[in-house]
Amino acid sequence: PRRSAVRVAATASSGADLHLFSPCKINLFLRVVRRREDGYHDLASLFHVIDLGDDMAFEALAGTAAADALTCNMVGVPTDGSNLVIKAFNMFRSKTGQKQRFAVDLQKRVPHGAGLGGGSANAATALWAANELCGRPASNEQLLAWSGEIGSDISVFFSNGAAYCTGRGEVVEDVAPPLPLDTPLLLVKPPVGLSTPDIFRALDLNRRSTADGRELLARLAAEGAVQELAVNDLEQPAFDRLPALLALKQRLQAEGPGFSSVFMTGSGSTIVCVGADEPPAFLQEAQYSDMFVSPARLITRQPGEWYAAPARGG
Ligand code: C5P
Repeated sequence: PRRSAVRVAATASSGADLHLFSPCKINLFLRVVRRREDGYHDLASLFHVIDLGDDMAFEALAGTAAADALTCNMVGVPTDGSNLVIKAFNMFRSKTGQKQRFAVDLQKRVPHGAGLGGGSANAATALWAANELCGRPASNEQLLAWSGEIGSDISVFFSNGAAYCTGRGEVVEDVAPPLPLDTPLLLVKPPVGLSTPDIFRALDLNRRSTADGRELLARLAAEGAVQELAVNDLEQPAFDRLPALLALKQRLQAEGPGFSSVFMTGSGSTIVCVGADEPPAFLQEAQYSDMFVSPARLITRQPGEWYAAPARGG
C-alpha cells in the first residue's frame, strides 16, 4: 500500500502542519525546437513524474512571523530567498494577496545537477502546500500558470504526472502514461552534475535530431521504450562536456540486464535505463563506487491530490 500525504494536528506555535512527498521527473524524450530571442529554448518533451523524491514538512507560521524559514539536510542547498521554495511562497503571496509565512524542512534524496528537476519539484510542492495551508484559494490551473513564472520545468508537476511539454517547458498538456506505470527504471548518476544553462549554451543546433515530438509521443505509446525513440538533444553538449557520461551510457546499453532503452534525462547528468531496475555488475567496479544508483517507477496523481510517497521509502 502507498502512503499518502498526511496531515497532522496543529501545534501551539502555528497553524496546521502538512507533510508532502516532492517527487522528481524524467524526460522520456527531449527535442530542442529552436533558440528564442529571450535566450530560452522552445522544447518538445515528454516529461514523466517518478517516485524518487524528497520529503517536505510544512508549517503555517503564526501571524507575527516576519519571514519564511527553510531548513535542509543536504549541505550546499541555499536556504535563503534564492531557493526556489522561497520563490514559490513569494509567488503564492503576490498572486493571492495572502500574508501567510511558512516554515519548511526539506529532506533531500534527489541529487543536484541531475536533470531530475529536484529543485523544481520542491518549488511545485511548496506552491501546492501553501495553497492547501491557506484553504485552497487557488485552482490547480492557477498554480500551474504561476509555476511557469518561477521556472521552466515546475509546471509539469501540476499535470497528472505524464505531460507533453512545449514552450520553455511550461506549456503542459496531460497525456496518458505512454508506458505501464510498473515499468522498472534504473537511474545512474555520476558524482559530477551538469548546469542547465551551460548545457543549453553548448548545444550545437546543427547537431540536433530531426524527430518530431508528436510522432515520438505516438510511437512511444505504440512501440514501447525502444532505443530509437529515446531522443535527447541535450546529450550532445552533455557528452561533449563529460565524455565519461557517454561511456557510461554505452556501457549500460551493452552490459545492462536487458534494458530496452538507455538515455540521459533533462540536461543531465543522470542516465535513465528502462526495463529493469537491477544495477548491472560492472557498477561494482571501484571506478563507479561513488555513483548515485536508484530504482524508480513512473507515477501519476489523482485530480485534487498531490503525489503519494512510495511505500518502499524512495
Ligand atoms: O527556467 P529555468 O530557470 O529553470 O532555466 C534555467 C536556465 O536553463 C535558463 O536560464 C536557460 O539558460 C536554460 N533554459 C533554456 N531553455 C529552456 C529551459 C531552460 O535555455 N526551455
